[in-house]
Amino acid sequence: MRFEPRWVVRTAPAPCHELTYDPVVRKPDDERAARPVPILVDCDTGIDDSLALLYAVASPECELVAVTCTGGNVGARQVAANTLAVLELAGRGDVEVAIGRETPLVRELVTTPETHGPRGLGYAELPAARAKLSGRFGPDVIVEEARRRPGELTLVTLAPLTNVALALQREPDLPRLLRRVVIMGGSYRSSGNTAPTTEWNVSCDPEAAKIVFEAFAGAGSDGHPPHPIALGLDVTERAKLLPEHLARLAALAGCAPDGSAQAGSIPGSPSGSAAAVNPMVRYLADALRFYMEFHSRYDGFYGAFIHDALALATALDPTLVRTQPVTVDVELDGRLTTGETVADWRHVWGEPPNLEVAVDAEIDRFFGSFIGRVGKLAAERGGLAATR
Ligand code: BDR
Ligand code: CA
Repeated sequence: MRFEPRWVVRTAPAPCHELTYDPVVRKPDDERAARPVPILVDCDTGIDDSLALLYAVASPECELVAVTCTGGNVGARQVAANTLAVLELAGRGDVEVAIGRETPLVRELVTTPETHGPRGLGYAELPAARAKLSGRFGPDVIVEEARRRPGELTLVTLAPLTNVALALQREPDLPRLLRRVVIMGGSYRSSGNTAPTTEWNVSCDPEAAKIVFEAFAGAGSDGHPPHPIALGLDVTERAKLLPEHLARLAALAGCAPDGSAQAGSIPGSPSGSAAAVNPMVRYLADALRFYMEFHSRYDGFYGAFIHDALALATALDPTLVRTQPVTVDVELDGRLTTGETVADWRHVWGEPPNLEVAVDAEIDRFFGSFIGRVGKLAAERGGLAATR
């Protein structure tokens, strides 16, 4: 159970871009020319994980190589079922989904039903996917795909780092085989969301986080392997998705914010028919309603931090964040602080940095891109389906 903060930072909502074009990829011609970015996602789907997956599918430059699943927000089997169902909703039932380790390395798994709902997707109910789980073990997928294309793959972690720690045990050279690692995890200059100083992904499996952070300590002075980019809560909590963002996304898909048909929006359809829905917008509305209610209870605003989607967007376009190199270690034995990411901003330890920690992000640009891309995907997938 997450603690209830005693104070709430109230900031004005970021204004939304006018969505006449996608601000990350400015022109359709550029979209076609954009170099593919091979991405492997490790996740614990989870509402904001699912938004990250939709963003990946919606991004023309993203080559989604595979998705590996670990226990976290819900049990790993449910994570895998959610992941398959979300990918199928997005039209990418062909992407390999592999299950990895089901529990943290040494601790018991504690899930987050209060945050993501009992099955991980809030109030949303997606049909079970037709696609089957991969026969490969998640950590093996990470190692084998990195070896298959040395120096090309970007690994994006949106979950406890359990699978990545196991992948490093199998292949200690993994950092050098990857092009880049982007991690949603930690809290480097702000309070936590699980205990007063700890963020959920690290707190869930701190031993795994320590292994992963240490594996990058020996990066060469030439910057290879590059340090992982870590997005902590101080930056991801600026990505506050509000009801008006969802309304704009739905408008791009030609429907109402709950996914139902808008009068006149569907040629030939009965105007405002309650039986016709855009399935992707309906999914977003149902999942996010739960997530927004959670944030309303615990964080003092009706909206949702979409941590994982910002991390995925950063993997595709690292210029979205400004980073600083810093040495980070993970507290394993604290009485109050186990799972805290301790960042040595003043170089007290005299150790070389092991992470590029995000200290700022272009949130308006991110939201412009998120709404533009996922709205377009929802429109393409949208042929309003009858619900009865
Ligand atoms: C992280 O915890 C999970 O609940 C979210 O999916 C995100 O990855 C934020 O602390
Ligand atoms: Ca997650």
